[in-house]
Amino acid sequence: MRLRLPPKVSFILDILERHGFEAYAVGGCVRDLVLARTPNDWDVTTSARPEQVKACFRRTVDTGLKHGTVTVMLEKDAFEVTTYRIDGDYSDSRHPDSVVFTSSLEQDLLRRDFTINAMAYSDRGGLVDISGGMRDLQKRVIRCVGSPDRRFGEDALRVMRAVRFAAQLGFSIEPATAEAAARHASGLSRVSAERIAVELLKLLTSPYPEMILEMRRLGITARVLPEFDRMMETPVATPSSLPGDTVGAHTVRALRAMPEDRILRLTALLYESGKPETAETDEFGWTHFPEYWTAGARIADGVIRRLKLDNATRKAVTNLIGGLAFIPETDAASVRKSMHLVGPESFDDYLALLWADKAADRNGEAVRDDDPDFMKINSLYDRERQILRMGDPLSVKDLAVDGTDLESLGYRGPEIGEFLKGALDEVLGDPGKNTKEHLLALASERKGAG
Ligand code: CTP
Repeated sequence: MRLRLPPKVSFILDILERHGFEAYAVGGCVRDLVLARTPNDWDVTTSARPEQVKACFRRTVDTGLKHGTVTVMLEKDAFEVTTYRIDGDYSDSRHPDSVVFTSSLEQDLLRRDFTINAMAYSDRGGLVDISGGMRDLQKRVIRCVGSPDRRFGEDALRVMRAVRFAAQLGFSIEPATAEAAARHASGLSRVSAERIAVELLKLLTSPYPEMILEMRRLGITARVLPEFDRMMETPVATPSSLPGDTVGAHTVRALRAMPEDRILRLTALLYESGKPETAETDEFGWTHFPEYWTAGARIADGVIRRLKLDNATRKAVTNLIGGLAFIPETDAASVRKSMHLVGPESFDDYLALLWADKAADRNGEAVRDDDPDFMKINSLYDRERQILRMGDPLSVKDLAVDGTDLESLGYRGPEIGEFLKGALDEVLGDPGKNTKEHLLALASERKGAG
């Protein structure tokens, strides 16, 4: 089989071979090439030792010499070149405690997690596939290389990787691999939050985010996202809900309806997380979740902190969830108020959340043009565009007066903020009132009255 490597990768293999070493593209990039997907990065495995790799290239970075990795820089592109190695145990489930270099490509391939990730390729050596990676790509299964218990025992994060690859590729997990994954899910408690977050986000932004259900089945969410298990255990009974529906199942339908965007999918995952603790059942047996968004924003905040994601992500997600407290009507004043509350730059995301929530209510049925909920969301989009076109004021900084104007009228300290907030409320309702004359007159009138 012949695969097309990018010229820079061929160049690296070529140089190493000319110096008498073996060298192959390996792992995820070979898998992606066979699947005609674009690889995220290009890894090279070689019989050369790190110092020998360094001697072959002009610009290198010592990325992880202890683990055999040298980064070769070609112009602005970086390529990780790693010496054939056999890993020791990952006692911290993060890095192997020790690595032993080997001169055998086969041994290097046998330490890898899944058969589809354990293939190497070079133009000279062809495809090296000793674990049946091609067969499993054709069968569309994720299967461990050799003993699944050993592979998961070496690094418990692989339990999440199995599900994440299944979600990205639309594959299933081979039964013996899945059974071993369930046995090793408890090992995730030793894995760093950062590595867990990477896998969770890759799963969420994949074409099959519903594979989070597989994570639950294997006991992964119980360790890394118990909030989701609680959602799955919380029943929903409304006149339009499916028999046996749960908050978690509704969330999964919302996830599927959301575009494959990090913030949007994370918001879809967490916006109903406040429902378990606010659930009430009325005398007819219907469920209600009063102000679930307040609890949801708090829970989402905690989850995102625990996963050690960045503050901007945390703020964006919690703000979108908090925005559910005021779902606007389609008139301009309501939409301006809502845009102010969620932030004008987040309003498209907010409408996407409303859309996904309604799509989840419809149990995944196709959206009909005459559906009133979707017609309303479309009108909200139109209204938003109109407001942006008009340049209507949406925040305090858009007001025609500022703190200095107010100081000259005798306003001091917190009075200034208070007045501006009141003035904003007024101009959100009627942008025509956003003139200096009107607001100054209002300010002096209020001052006089106070
Ligand atoms: N690998 C492994 N066990 C891990 C992580 C990685 O065996 N816990 C091996 C696999 O052979 C994998 C390769 O190292 O293919 C590169 O790992 P990584 O870059 O994390 O994943 P990719 O397979 O390249 O997938 P992607 O970049 O698409 O996430």
